[in-house]
Amino acid sequence: MINLRSIRTRLALLVFAITIAAVGFVFAYVAPPLETNLREQRLESLAEASKRFSRPIIDARDEDIESLRLIVQRVGDRANARVTLLRVSRGSLGLQTAVIADSTGGARQDDLQFEVALEAARQQRIATGTEASRNGRLGQAARPILRGNAVERVIVFAAPLSDVDDNVAFVRSRIAIAGAIALLLALAAGLLLSTRLAQRIKRLERTARRVAAGDLSGRFVVDAADELGSLAFALDDMQRQLGELDEARKRFIATASHELRTPIFSLGGFLELLQDEDLDEETREAFLTQVREQVSRLQKLAVDLLDLSKLEAGSLELRPEPTDLGVLARAVTSEFQPALARHDSHLELRLAAREVEAELDPERVAQILRILIDNALAHTPHGTDMVVTAGRHDGMVRLQVRDFGEGIGRQALERLFEPFYSTGDGASSSLGLAIANELAERMNGKLSV
Ligand SMILES: Nc1ncnc2c1ncn2[C@@H]1O[C@H](COP(=O)(O)OP(=O)(O)OP(=O)(O)O)[C@@H](O)[C@H]1O
Ligand SMILES: [Mg+2]
Repeated sequence: MINLRSIRTRLALLVFAITIAAVGFVFAYVAPPLETNLREQRLESLAEASKRFSRPIIDARDEDIESLRLIVQRVGDRANARVTLLRVSRGSLGLQTAVIADSTGGARQDDLQFEVALEAARQQRIATGTEASRNGRLGQAARPILRGNAVERVIVFAAPLSDVDDNVAFVRSRIAIAGAIALLLALAAGLLLSTRLAQRIKRLERTARRVAAGDLSGRFVVDAADELGSLAFALDDMQRQLGELDEARKRFIATASHELRTPIFSLGGFLELLQDEDLDEETREAFLTQVREQVSRLQKLAVDLLDLSKLEAGSLELRPEPTDLGVLARAVTSEFQPALARHDSHLELRLAAREVEAELDPERVAQILRILIDNALAHTPHGTDMVVTAGRHDGMVRLQVRDFGEGIGRQALERLFEPFYSTGDGASSSLGLAIANELAERMNGKLSV
């Protein structure tokens, strides 16, 4: 079945069309000039013969008709052409010619008009041309014979052009045969090539559909080092990344639901216990404290999850403005004074002498800074000091939070910015660094440890 929209059909047709056009060109541009050339050559050699062999006829101007006929016949034999001698007369109808003698004996003279003879008489020099006869086309060369200033007679040398026509017909038929073979080959090669291409595209399409339907196990096969091969390679790469993303998404949902379930179950447990009438005031107060803690943990988790999902969906709106990081660091660190005091830590601020200004969303930079200082407090022993630096580095602005705790293990570094990843006991939701990292990226910055 032929589908005109398919690449396969179009390619095959294109190859076919190009070949037809090529053959057509050869036909149109080779055959006609070939014919003209051969004919010109024939006429030239006739003109040449008329120069070489005419002398006896010219000299026999005053012979009687019988000897003229003999001479014409002999010239015809020598020139290997049909030779005709014509008389030129000027009548009321202008120039006219009449045959005096013909090397074939004059029997067939009435079939020819000898237009070239008139032409030669008019121009008073050798003229060439062709004329159709009963035995095919003839080439003719006419040579005028002058008496005084007027043309008295014309000698016409004629030879058949049939071999020229045969040669041209032969060349034409060869071109046609070669063209037909080339067409068949082109059609076959075009079909073969385009079928193979179409098959490979089809295979890519099938795999793509499988992947689109959620089956990530399908593989794009790189079957050649051509464009389709590199497309398959790119698709394979894309599919692997999709697989990784899918994994990450599943892990995220599993962890998130686990993180949400734990405090909710624990809340349910405490509420049941609180319903007990015989509870003394002290225990009730302890339970309520636990409930409050769980609720605030849930609150923080809900806010963090929302932030993170907004960041990943790209829907978090940033409001960049010229911001001095020094001023910002001072403001944020001062918020932490009570927490620092509780932790018995000293925070040193190191600010560059000049102002450190950049186009940033101050709210979001402050959020990152809070996450980092919070970590320096939460994941270090009591009494650990820290340093916050704001300055320029390599043409960029840089904010740094450094603490003197035990630090972070090398193998943890790789996964540190993943949501829910923690090296600790898991009491926190561990979304802080994931959010900070996303925020930094959104502002074309980079968070590093
Ligand atoms: N300054 C630090 N010193 C040592 N470990 C750290 C430090 N900052 C982060 N970590 C490790 O990296 C993990 C991820 O930190 P992140 O801020 O993302 O989560 P979290 O602090 O556990 O929870 P939260 O979402 O409440 O911030 C932490 O659990 C901790 O194990
Ligand atoms: Mg944290």
